[in-house]
Amino acid sequence: MVRSFGAMAFLLGMSLGIAWSVGPTSLPDEATLQAVVSKAQALETRLVETRRHLHMYPELSNREFETSKFIAERLRALGLDEVRTGVAKTGVVGVLRGSRPGPVVAVRADMDALPVEEAIDVPYKSRNPGVKHACGHDVHMTVALGTAEVLAQWKREGRPLPGTVVFLFQPAEEGPPPGEEGGASLVIREGVLDQLRIQAIFGLHAAPFLPVGTVAYTEGPILASADRFEVIVHGKQTHGAYPHQGIDPIYVGSQIVVNLQSILSRQLDPREPAVVSVGVFQAGNRFNIIPGDARLEGTVRTLREETRRRIPVLMEQIIRGITEAYGATYEFRYEAMTPVTVNDASLVRTLLPALQKLLGADRVIRAEAQMGAEDFGFYAQKIPGFYFWLGVRAPDDPTVRMLHTPEFDADERSIGVGVRAMTTLVLHYLQTAARPTSRR
Ligand code: NI
Repeated sequence: MVRSFGAMAFLLGMSLGIAWSVGPTSLPDEATLQAVVSKAQALETRLVETRRHLHMYPELSNREFETSKFIAERLRALGLDEVRTGVAKTGVVGVLRGSRPGPVVAVRADMDALPVEEAIDVPYKSRNPGVKHACGHDVHMTVALGTAEVLAQWKREGRPLPGTVVFLFQPAEEGPPPGEEGGASLVIREGVLDQLRIQAIFGLHAAPFLPVGTVAYTEGPILASADRFEVIVHGKQTHGAYPHQGIDPIYVGSQIVVNLQSILSRQLDPREPAVVSVGVFQAGNRFNIIPGDARLEGTVRTLREETRRRIPVLMEQIIRGITEAYGATYEFRYEAMTPVTVNDASLVRTLLPALQKLLGADRVIRAEAQMGAEDFGFYAQKIPGFYFWLGVRAPDDPTVRMLHTPEFDADERSIGVGVRAMTTLVLHYLQTAARPTSRR
C-alpha cells in the first residue's frame, strides 16, 4: 500500500505563500563589501577555534545537547535580541532585529554529526568515539555563528540593517533516530517560520568536490527528494529440492529488483533524473530451504515532486504484477521522507550579483542538481530558499575527502569564505527585498 504523502501537504501551503518581491537588481556598494570582508577576517582565527571545538565534540541527531548549550551561549554573548532553545528538541534560534523595519531572513545551520569513526590524525580529532562531524555540519554552524557575530557588530556600529535576521540552528538533519521525530519538518511544525514571519531562508553545505574560495549554486532543484520503501514478498516455504511445492520469495523478489529499474529506463522520460535503489534484500537462513518471505528495502530519489508522486504508483504496479504471476503476495510501504530542495530562481538571480562581486564571477559556479538529499527542502517548500555549496577542498590538494567518510575534513579557510558569502547574501537580501504585501 502506498502511504500518503505527508510532505506533499507542504506543496499546497507553498502555493498560498507570501508575495515575495524584490526591488530592481542592484549591487552592494564597495564600502559594504569591504566592511564585511574585514570584519570576517578579524574573526577568522577565533572561528577556526570554534569549529575545532565543535569538531572535537560531535553529537548524533536529536542528541545535540552540548552543541546546543554551546551555540546558545555564543548567541547570548553576541547580544542578540532573542535566543530560544529547545527548538525541535535541541535546536537553537537567535534573532537579531535590525535598526530599521524590513524583511525577515533566516540563516540555517544543521547541528548533528554521524556515527562514523574519525580516521584522520589532526589536533581537533573527535573526542567522542564512533561519532564524527563527517558531513561538515561543524563548518555550517561556525559559518552561521560568524555571520551572527559580523551582523551583531554591524548593528552595534549603527550600520544599516533594515530587517531581521534569524539564525536557525537545526538538529537532526541526518534524520532522527527510529521512532523519533526531528529535523526541519519538526521545526516547521513547531511554527518557527510563522511565528518569526520568516520570508526567505539561506543555507549552505560543505562541498569536498570544490576548492576553497568557490561556491556553487543552481536556479531550481539543487538536491533530490529522498524517500524510503519496503517490500515484503510472502511466498511459501519448501525444501530446496522441491521448489514446485512452494512459492520462492527469493526468486520473486529478484524479479522485482530487476524490474524496478524498468521504471527509469522504460516508463519515465529518459531526460527525467531519478534513482530507485534496493539497499536491503533479506531472506532465508539455510542453503537447502526456500524461505517463506523475503524483505526488500530501498530509496527513491527524484528532482521533481511530480516524478516523486508517480514512482511509487509504478513501483506497486510492478510488485503487484510480479507477485501475482508467481502466486505470491506482498506488502508495500512507501515513506515520503525529504522533499526536493529547490532554490527559488528569482531569489537566486537577485542575490547572485552580490556573491559574484564578493568572490569573483569565476568562483561562483553554476552547478547541476545532485541526487543526495537535504531537509532544507522542507523550508524551501514553504518560503523562498537559497542553498549553495561551499568549497572546502584545499586548493593545492586534488584529493576529494568525501562527505560521510572517516577521512572527511574541511579546509578551515572555507569558514571565512562562508561567513563573507552568507553575510553578503543577508545584507543584500535585506537591502533589496521589498516588504511582503500579504501573509499566509
Ligand atoms: Ni550534511
